[in-house]
Amino acid sequence: MTSRAFARLVAFRAPPAIGTRLRAVSDNAVGDITAGQAWRALSAHAERIGDRHLREFFAADPGRGRRLAAEAAGLYLDYSKNRVDDATLAALMALARERDVEGRRDAMLAGEPINVTEGRPVLHTALRAPRDASVTVDGENVVPGVHAVLAAAGAYAEAVRDGSRRGHTGRPLRNIVNIGIGGSDLGPAMAADALLPLAPDGLRVRFVSNVDGSDLVESLRGLDPAETLFIVASKSFGTLETLTNARSARDWLLQGLGAGEEAVRDHFVAVSTNAERVAEFGIDTENMFGFWDWVGGRYSLDSAVGLALMIAIGPAGFAEMLSGFRAMDEHFASAPLEANLPVLLGLLGAWYANFLGAESHAVLPYDRYLARFPAYLQQLDMESNGKSVTLDGKPVSWATGPVVWGEPGTNGQHAFYQLIHQGTHLVPCDVIAFREPVHDLGVHHELLLANALAQPEALAFGRTAEEVAAEGVDPALVPHRTFAGNTPSNVILGERMGPAALGALIALYEHKVFVQGAIWGINSFDQWGVELGKVLADTIAEELRTGAVGAHDSSTAELIARVRDRADG
Ligand code: F6P
Repeated sequence: MTSRAFARLVAFRAPPAIGTRLRAVSDNAVGDITAGQAWRALSAHAERIGDRHLREFFAADPGRGRRLAAEAAGLYLDYSKNRVDDATLAALMALARERDVEGRRDAMLAGEPINVTEGRPVLHTALRAPRDASVTVDGENVVPGVHAVLAAAGAYAEAVRDGSRRGHTGRPLRNIVNIGIGGSDLGPAMAADALLPLAPDGLRVRFVSNVDGSDLVESLRGLDPAETLFIVASKSFGTLETLTNARSARDWLLQGLGAGEEAVRDHFVAVSTNAERVAEFGIDTENMFGFWDWVGGRYSLDSAVGLALMIAIGPAGFAEMLSGFRAMDEHFASAPLEANLPVLLGLLGAWYANFLGAESHAVLPYDRYLARFPAYLQQLDMESNGKSVTLDGKPVSWATGPVVWGEPGTNGQHAFYQLIHQGTHLVPCDVIAFREPVHDLGVHHELLLANALAQPEALAFGRTAEEVAAEGVDPALVPHRTFAGNTPSNVILGERMGPAALGALIALYEHKVFVQGAIWGINSFDQWGVELGKVLADTIAEELRTGAVGAHDSSTAELIARVRDRADG
């Protein structure tokens, strides 16, 4: 799609006349989605074909492997090894239409306040909109602001890379330490690892997230404070872990340099939406890169939150990554549902979660550079869709987001694949692989790809008792060596791992999560579930510090007493 087409697509639509946030919530009455026609049809359909084996699906249609595939933004999706026939797919498409996935998508892209519990638009797609696009929030086109921050962050990244931006003592900044957590850590950490080959030799990029002091100590090990730049990334700039780490990092810096507060400005920058708190912390807001409350933390990698990544791979590499995001956005916005990759992945996931009883979903990248991708997806998916009330606050009676997990292949094959192949849980899998290697070491890539293709084949078709017996296996061992198969998988095949492929892949999953949230009638863009633990931890921290322990259940009280005993030594 051209940038003009994109602009048209996201052109301003007057937001609905919503007086208050509560009103917005009640405007989103979801009702019992299981009573809808498409849902009921899928339930009945699942009764009929839920147990049918993938062997039968393939036997019935020799062209299935080619037919059930779609391609966009450089990613080929083979979804033929799913327990679906044409009727299932048609019924899933009907569900998407019944749940108005397209309408909700268009509302998101147009900047309507679809995050109803926080009264905000959801506009991570504006972060990669072309310069001439127009996305309007409260009557203002936000795209020029996005590009202004990208340009400022790009210029800063370039200055660090070429050594024109230096530390307090005049030394170049060769160590970049990002301090952040959740969306202010997982995205840039995952992507910096994924795009490691693009980082110049001699530049060290590290990530500190955990409040566990060991994380900071290990991240700073061997670093020279004179050459170290800290990026404090926090949307709110109020997150306990990040502020605690940032304070200790400041002490480490000033002690190491033997300098006063004036050194902070040369070694600390902030990425935040909250200028006031940044200033309060002592970082000059001149050294702050902003973003906006319409970007969720877990959707913020492609904003200035990616500054550490931008320094690592350069602004050009970052721009290439954004082009990959944009290509997938445009596909999601315009492709028919039947050929729309995020829609297909979202619906297939719903099929397993809601109609075939799957409780988890494995993501298995056959690429070392995607080692952190499953962890990144855990926040993206589980913080978004780990919800049990609808947009209008009614309890759901249907499953929502699954447990997402995974590790790179082939490592996982020698660890947990046993359970996927022969355990008692249904675990739908996504296998991600690239045709071309990043490093051509002869036979390695061929072997890697052979495994990436063999596993979905084994998962789908298994090995029957007859096949095992025919190999002359001792009859007593036949049941142990039989593979039931019928485990569904998607294979996502790209050309070569790199910035554009990574951007497209991330956007694919962002939009998949969106589709599922729309199907389930939940708000994928808040995260109230993280609050209670934070509040209780604040109380306990105070109790541990002062010894004035308040009322707790007997288990927590005993644990506090034991921790305090140890502390009192
Ligand atoms: O605790 C959850 C959370 O709010 C995430 O949603 C977010 O990405 C993370 O904390 C960090 O928040 P912040 O960027 O405001 O420090």
